Amino acid sequence: MQDIIRQLEEKRAAAKLGGGLKRIEAQHAKGKLTARERIALLLDEGSFEEWDMFVEHRCTDFGMAEQKVPGDGVVTGYGTINGRLVFVFSQDFTVFGGSLSESHAKKICKIMEQAMKVGAPLIGLNDSGGARIQEGVSSLGGYADVFQLNMLASGVIPQISLIMGPCAGGAVYSPAITDFTFMVKDSSYMFVTGPDVVKTVTHEEVTAEELGGAITHTTKSGVADLAMENDVEALLNMRRFINFLPASNREKPPVWPSQDPPLRAEPSLDTLVPDDPARPYDIKELIHKIADEGDFFELQPDYAKNIVIGFIRLEGATIGVVANQPMVLAGCLDIDSSIKGARFVRFCDAFNIPILTLEDVPGFMPGTSQEYGGIIKHGAKLLYAYAEATVPKVTVITRKAYGGAYDVMASKHLRGDVNFAWPSAEIAVMGPKGAVEIIFRKDIGDPAAIAARTEEYREKFANPFIAGARGFIDDVIMPRNTRKRVCRSFAMLRNKDLKNPWRKHGNIPL
Ligand code: HXC
Repeated sequence: MQDIIRQLEEKRAAAKLGGGLKRIEAQHAKGKLTARERIALLLDEGSFEEWDMFVEHRCTDFGMAEQKVPGDGVVTGYGTINGRLVFVFSQDFTVFGGSLSESHAKKICKIMEQAMKVGAPLIGLNDSGGARIQEGVSSLGGYADVFQLNMLASGVIPQISLIMGPCAGGAVYSPAITDFTFMVKDSSYMFVTGPDVVKTVTHEEVTAEELGGAITHTTKSGVADLAMENDVEALLNMRRFINFLPASNREKPPVWPSQDPPLRAEPSLDTLVPDDPARPYDIKELIHKIADEGDFFELQPDYAKNIVIGFIRLEGATIGVVANQPMVLAGCLDIDSSIKGARFVRFCDAFNIPILTLEDVPGFMPGTSQEYGGIIKHGAKLLYAYAEATVPKVTVITRKAYGGAYDVMASKHLRGDVNFAWPSAEIAVMGPKGAVEIIFRKDIGDPAAIAARTEEYREKFANPFIAGARGFIDDVIMPRNTRKRVCRSFAMLRNKDLKNPWRKHGNIPL
């Protein structure tokens, strides 16, 4: 017995040492934590239950039979974050560069299946050289097994990827299927093919950082949601982020204690919208002023900035916010913002998170680059996502709600439950000037007539009352009372029950 216990201790010590002290030092020298240090920071202290510490690879080629490290390059298991269960895998770059072998993949799949069975989020800490080159197709098969489970888990449990080192080749497709991706600046990158292959094929000279670093993916491609300064910041933010999410699609989002009165008025909001309809204002000010304790967890803050997405809490419960941002491109909808908004709306709907839409949108972005890029198809994604969503939907029109974009942004017609407008709302097919130039084209040479017609149009349509008269909005509210009215609406909607007709799945315009 003593012998077995000694062996156990030796094996545990070997597993914990991963690829050995030298490689751990090299990892630290790159500013990166080890797989286990990361788990220790992510989870509540002492809560980690590790599985499969003794798993080894079964490869015998290229001298691999003599090179075995217990755990095989990935630490897996479960634990808690603020007392709530999560499953986690953390790739260990010190063991064969965190590369994915058949056994390594099996460990990840095992916890994914378990997470789905019990209904708890999966957090993947990625730091890997990709497919274990010595294993060949066994490794590729392992990746596909992970991808398959990522797809099956999609919409069942939240899946979040943290990229904390290399993530290249087909390996990028697992994070790509997951719901959210955080990256660490300077030490992580994601690309389908690296700089060398790029140079050979397209003759472009590009560094790994430029091609697939955290800044690239959070500003240019939209592949990642957030760029973090370092491992510690990334892991602590992940702890904060997971607090907003339900454990699975079987649960409602968690409710945390809040000291912020739901009836709180914000007089400063009465002057948020400038008198001049052409002047911008920051929609984030409204979000912060509505939110419990002003707390807003924004996602993709540096990508498609004309739409703002993220989570707040109202009366302690998570709410997904989608807001047009008048400060960027006047808040219009273009390809990138439509896709950004649509994916977020679908996440909220899949996980029972109510959606608050704050609307100030002059329409879809015109131009050849948008049309050639498929704004019709991509704009339809946002329309589809809103139309499909059955979670509580509350909309506040702060200013412009023009054209098709009025319909898209959770209008009454797309089963918006509560639709409010501020007195400054303008709900029309288009802005007064554009409208008059079309319907009174014959008067274009007569500036006085055009000005009179514009004023007439503005008076008739640039207000919330026609939509109010039709019942398309439920009330015109004072901006200062927005938090109160929105909180009451979501409270009223708490037991909303709405189902779409049965089907295998819809066919969202991809
Ligand atoms: C086996 C690997 C490995 C891999 C790295 N290592 N990648 N072992 N399979 N894929 C090992 C190295 O041999 C080395 O072992 C240790 O990990 C650290 O690697 P270094 O090269 O010293 O580290 P670094 O200089 O930081 O470079 C990291 C790296 C580089 C950029 C990731 O290692 C690299 O280019 N690796 C190969 C990447 C690759 O081509 N992967 C396959 C992609 S295709 P020692 O013993 O010296 O410490 C793919 C397909 C997936 O993934 C398809 C899914 C559908």
